[in-house]
Amino acid sequence: MLKKNAKTIQPIHHLLSERWSCRSFNPDKIVSKEHIIALCEAARWAPSCFGDEPWRMIIFDKHSNIDAYNNALNILGEWNQQWVKNAQVIIAVLADTEFRKNSEPNRWGNYDTGAAAMSICIQAVALGMAAHQCGGFDQDKLKSEFQIPDKFVPLSMIAIGYQDYPDKLNKDLFDREIADRTRRNLGDNFFDSCWENPIISEDKNDL
Ligand SMILES: Cc1cc2nc3c(=O)[nH]c(=O)nc-3n(C[C@H](O)[C@H](O)[C@H](O)COP(=O)(O)O)c2cc1C
Repeated sequence: MLKKNAKTIQPIHHLLSERWSCRSFNPDKIVSKEHIIALCEAARWAPSCFGDEPWRMIIFDKHSNIDAYNNALNILGEWNQQWVKNAQVIIAVLADTEFRKNSEPNRWGNYDTGAAAMSICIQAVALGMAAHQCGGFDQDKLKSEFQIPDKFVPLSMIAIGYQDYPDKLNKDLFDREIADRTRRNLGDNFFDSCWENPIISEDKNDL
């Protein structure tokens, strides 16, 4: 299977460097219910502001409820649907905009929910699977189709399954699948002591 490990200046944990957003999913290799629950547990134990746990996630499993899965798939943009359809599981990720304890606005809800989503992505790698987050979906349709209360904001839909070979994809998707992964230079986003003062790595091969 295609590996696209991050090229890092310093070694990082292999689960982090091995994670990447593949689009070739194996439609035949079954994701077990145990693994689906493990993904939920990974998110459940994420940290959150005031321990509010503002994330809400709807799990769509093609093998347990094909109608609900297809409804979720149809909420994605057409371009995403062409490859997500081979992922057995789609997780819709939403955040509560209010704290549970007092209904005050929770300005950390999206932050916490993003952390929980990343936990799912990393747990997927740990279980030998792949996860690909998608922002390309119709938020209003998700809310109306699944009767989601107003105060919850849809953030992403995560495609999860076992990776497949890149040559199972059409030409456009294949080219993207095998393209190098890139990142901005370290110092473009990480500053030393003050705004926009690039942090410098001691390493001569700094990226
Ligand atoms: C919030 C979010 C939304 C994304 N939306 C899409 C999407 O709609 N379709 C898609 O193919 N990839 C989507 N991606 C995947 C990104 O393109 C990908 O994470 C980025 O290019 C970095 O690649 P990597 O995850 O392999 O490191 C999204 C990722 C995130 C975190």
